[in-house]
Amino acid sequence: MSAKSDLTKEKIYQIVFDNITLTTYEISEKFGISTREVGGARRHHTILQKNGGLVKEKITHSKKRLEKSDELVKIAKEKGFSGGGEKKDLARERMSVHSLLSDVKNGLCFSFTHRKAELEKSLLKVLPDLNFIGIECDKWVYKDMVRTIKKDSLPIKPYFGYAIDVLKNSNSDRFAHLYLDFCGTLFNNADDIQYTMQNDLVQKNGLICITACRTTRVGKGRWFDEWKNCGGFSTNIEDNRTYCDQRNENFLHKLMPLGCKYVLLDIFKYRDTSDMCLYVIQRIR
Ligand SMILES: C[S@@+](CC[C@H](N)C(=O)[O-])C[C@H]1O[C@@H](n2cnc3c(N)ncnc32)[C@H](O)[C@@H]1O
Repeated sequence: MSAKSDLTKEKIYQIVFDNITLTTYEISEKFGISTREVGGARRHHTILQKNGGLVKEKITHSKKRLEKSDELVKIAKEKGFSGGGEKKDLARERMSVHSLLSDVKNGLCFSFTHRKAELEKSLLKVLPDLNFIGIECDKWVYKDMVRTIKKDSLPIKPYFGYAIDVLKNSNSDRFAHLYLDFCGTLFNNADDIQYTMQNDLVQKNGLICITACRTTRVGKGRWFDEWKNCGGFSTNIEDNRTYCDQRNENFLHKLMPLGCKYVLLDIFKYRDTSDMCLYVIQRIR
């Protein structure tokens, strides 16, 4: 399709973002937009991503994007998840349902197993062919973690040390999924997240699930400065929570490599003792 369409630029941008997993030719054919216009929209998307200016352009797009969280909850219930308990349970279940819906159903996963391996147990319930490398840097947590793995005969290889060492010793496509359940700030864990995406450590269609706090605190260093520049700041704490969400979302896009390889599939806010957020990213190319 080479003829120019009658659609506005904004409409074309939207169509291209909504169908980011299709080829330029497929989008052109399906929506009657010229390949030139599709290419222009892709470039626009890449420039926005590079500048971290994605606040207005919601880019939580993917062929697998689930419009309604109800749909995820329904699947979680069908699979026998609790749908309640701690709010963290809901986040774990959400990671499990997304993993189930991805095309990657077996292989090695990266996770922070912690004392009770709750996330891994939730995942194994629906995807029994997964296995894990369970990372922990705290000696006492690690000891409990090893005990749980042995007691419950879980397919988890424990690793005592820092995540970045495992990541840097991994080739691209090594992991089926990565569960970067930091529960910390994104700016403090940016090296790990960036390294993972820049080096394509997750297989195509695999997930990178990240939990982060919706912090209103200040930090320091290069990553904090970059994060701070991804959204506004106010003296009102509630405004700041919203700004933090904007910053987190834009910051994650900044950490992604250029070329639309990764999409932010889901954002799920939860709170037990503090305000947290789960980000589910999928590698689509
Ligand atoms: C939030 S907990 C994991 C919770 C667990 N996935 C669950 O579902 O209950 C995070 C754990 O990872 C460890 N951790 C965080 N960042 C790490 C890093 N960069 N390297 C190694 N361990 C890390 C922390 O010590 C902590 O025990």
